[in-house]
Amino acid sequence: MTTYLIAGGCGFIGSNFVHFLLKRQPETKIIVVDNLGFAGNRANLDGVVDSITLEVEDICDFEAMTRVYQHHQPEVVVNFAAESHNDRAVATPSDFARSNALGCQNLLEVSRRNPVRRHVHISTIEVYGELGESQEWFNEASPLNAKTPYSAAKAAGDMFVRAYMQTYPEMDIMLTHCANNYGAYQFPEKLIPLVITNVLRGLKAPVYGDGLQKRDWLHVRDHCRAILAMIEATCGDIPAEAATDPSKLPIYDISARNELTNLDIVSQIIRLLGKEPSEWIEHVADRPNHDRRYLISPARIETELGWEPKVDFETGLEQTVRWYLDNQAWWAAILERSGSLQFDWSTT
Ligand SMILES: NC(=O)c1ccc[n+]([C@@H]2O[C@H](COP(=O)([O-])OP(=O)(O)OC[C@H]3O[C@@H](n4cnc5c(N)ncnc54)[C@H](O)[C@@H]3O)[C@@H](O)[C@H]2O)c1
Repeated sequence: MTTYLIAGGCGFIGSNFVHFLLKRQPETKIIVVDNLGFAGNRANLDGVVDSITLEVEDICDFEAMTRVYQHHQPEVVVNFAAESHNDRAVATPSDFARSNALGCQNLLEVSRRNPVRRHVHISTIEVYGELGESQEWFNEASPLNAKTPYSAAKAAGDMFVRAYMQTYPEMDIMLTHCANNYGAYQFPEKLIPLVITNVLRGLKAPVYGDGLQKRDWLHVRDHCRAILAMIEATCGDIPAEAATDPSKLPIYDISARNELTNLDIVSQIIRLLGKEPSEWIEHVADRPNHDRRYLISPARIETELGWEPKVDFETGLEQTVRWYLDNQAWWAAILERSGSLQFDWSTT
């Protein structure tokens, strides 16, 4: 029976991973660490609270995290904890630098001083920056070229992860970059749940600018399967060539190669809700410095670990819309607590 420490387990992907792990390994011991920040939500763990331990702590707090490690003795650490919303990062970049860069380093340091079997850090496709129209995709060898406050903070975290991998070879660290996730429990300020919850409340769906920004969509269940495949994989020593070639480090890019424009996605959701997109879409001012395109290649994780996505996009989107229809109390409570989650860039 493995003891997992899941940092950020009250957020969207972290809570999905907790539910997923408990289904796959019901006997497993899970310690969730979360500071219940803006997007943190205890209700994401409803139904499993009796099977886990929740520690309300901040990953930036060295003493608190050391106490948690010494008390629970985790064997595997998965760090999902981060400030995650690009819009919010434009408004409050320092919060993002703190959790995504310093928090990442602090947790690595706690794992170094209180050794664990494996430390997995969850990063993002966005650290590679914007993909040009003539480029095929990014992969693990691509340079980091973050240009937004969110992705810059995540990229700073990535650099610490790479540095720890190479400086402390006794540690067993893995790093992921994943595409945009969708599925149940996503905080309703993100595109897919924002559109669903707006339309269900009789409000139009906001589309930034022309809506032709392209994103790479991955179902959260496929993401959870990829992370478990990584946890179960053997990870050899870091080869000397990694010093000049980051693709030799244990880094995996995770994508289902679903490239779609925001306008396509929003239109599909509105149709699934039985409405006519032209009547429900409202083009609004774009976020400053909005990346136009992301796409990564999952070739390495497919070849080395045998992972492949199983959820096709149409089915996954339909199930996601159904989940928000069936769980209106879940998102209504968030909206009541947080107020409007829509950003208005025309006033900045
Ligand atoms: N959602 C996506 O599409 C996506 C895509 C690629 C990568 N990621 C990465 O995956 C991870 C999870 O993303 P998500 O969408 O679930 O985000 P989320 O915002 O839904 O959840 C993040 C969780 O981390 C917690 N947290 C934040 N700062 C913390 C801190 N200092 N200490 C303790 N807990 C803290 C929050 O309270 C929240 O529960 C993030 O690292 C994000 O960068 C997300």
